[in-house]
Amino acid sequence: MHRNTVIDDLDELQGAARLPRVKNISHQEQRLAHSQAKRSPHPGHKPKVKAVEVQAEIAAQADDQGRFEFTYTASRYEGVWLLESLGGMVEERWIADVLRMIKGGKEASVYQCRGGPATGLEWIAAKVYRPRRFRQLKNDHIYKEGRDRLDIGGHVINDDRMHHAMNKRTGYGLELLHTSWIAHEFKTLQDLHAAGADVPEPYASGHNAILMEYIGDEDTPAPTLNSLELDRGEARRLFERVLHNLELMLAHGRVHADLSAYNILYWQGEIWLIDFPQAFPPEANKNGFQIFRRDVTRICEYFISQGVRCKPQKIAEGLWTANGFRLAPEIQPQYLDDQSEQDRALWRKAQTASKSASR
Ligand SMILES: Nc1ncnc2c1ncn2[C@@H]1O[C@H](COP(=O)(O)OP(=O)(O)OP(=O)(O)O)[C@@H](O)[C@H]1O
Ligand SMILES: [Mg+2]
Repeated sequence: MHRNTVIDDLDELQGAARLPRVKNISHQEQRLAHSQAKRSPHPGHKPKVKAVEVQAEIAAQADDQGRFEFTYTASRYEGVWLLESLGGMVEERWIADVLRMIKGGKEASVYQCRGGPATGLEWIAAKVYRPRRFRQLKNDHIYKEGRDRLDIGGHVINDDRMHHAMNKRTGYGLELLHTSWIAHEFKTLQDLHAAGADVPEPYASGHNAILMEYIGDEDTPAPTLNSLELDRGEARRLFERVLHNLELMLAHGRVHADLSAYNILYWQGEIWLIDFPQAFPPEANKNGFQIFRRDVTRICEYFISQGVRCKPQKIAEGLWTANGFRLAPEIQPQYLDDQSEQDRALWRKAQTASKSASR
């Protein structure tokens, strides 16, 4: 591993003193964490830890990992990260074992786990987020517009000091923002699952991971739709199902904002929409329609390739207005996706219109 990466990893893990109480951390360390938490001036404030203490602590944790005996063999630093993110959930008996990594994504890695006794489930999927510094979500402010900031319990943050820390982007503030992102994904799954949408059932969330229904069987996790060739009848049926979900989401105040065939799982004829950290309420975001249209367009692109005839602009407008949302006439170039031909066409059209208006 590159040296800087290791140093960044260490830096990211400065919250080691506040690790969840897991069975492989000594009582002495737990007492230390507890007494530091008591002294903290703000709720959830993270005391500064000297680099040398952090390194010693991480070394101790890395050694402790052996006692977890997960079936999945993680690298040393991934192991520390897993322990920090899932340790509390193991102790809460949500997870009995980590079996394999299903996929390491740019924002998170998803693991197939054996459900713990608290769940009665054979398998569970754990989405473990990358340390905040390595996350690369571009233009995340676009999706944050109109969204509340949530704490680890999914409650709206009302504490002025916490808002101040987030606005100033202090270390503590960035940590709160990271947690808010995760809480949004979990709450969106909860709300949409309760509404009857095709999403994995969410079970539990922590400061760096969420647990949800695992889609697949013992040996094979469900593939994503983009990797599949469908016959035309099946494609039409699934397309209708995705549209039904889009409508349900709008009716329950959510735009997915990163929807495509890559974020839909397929298993035994059914689909599950996944990956919701950036979902937002349609009415509160001035770019809501453009982002929604991008979702619809990407979905249509896949289904057109599978023989379905559809017109993304018409579908997006129809769903949007049928749910009582207005079509915003202004086009904001900085929010358009330069990879999307449709967005580029929209931009060219706007430029032509403004040129002829100024003649
Ligand atoms: N509930 C689940 N059951 C089975 N597999 C899942 C589940 N959730 C996610 N996965 C797998 O993990 C992958 C990554 O999940 P997700 O899209 O939520 O994370 P991500 O960090 O955004 O990843 P990516 O950058 O690849 O989009 C999915 O493409 C899918 O293969
Ligand atoms: Mg994804």
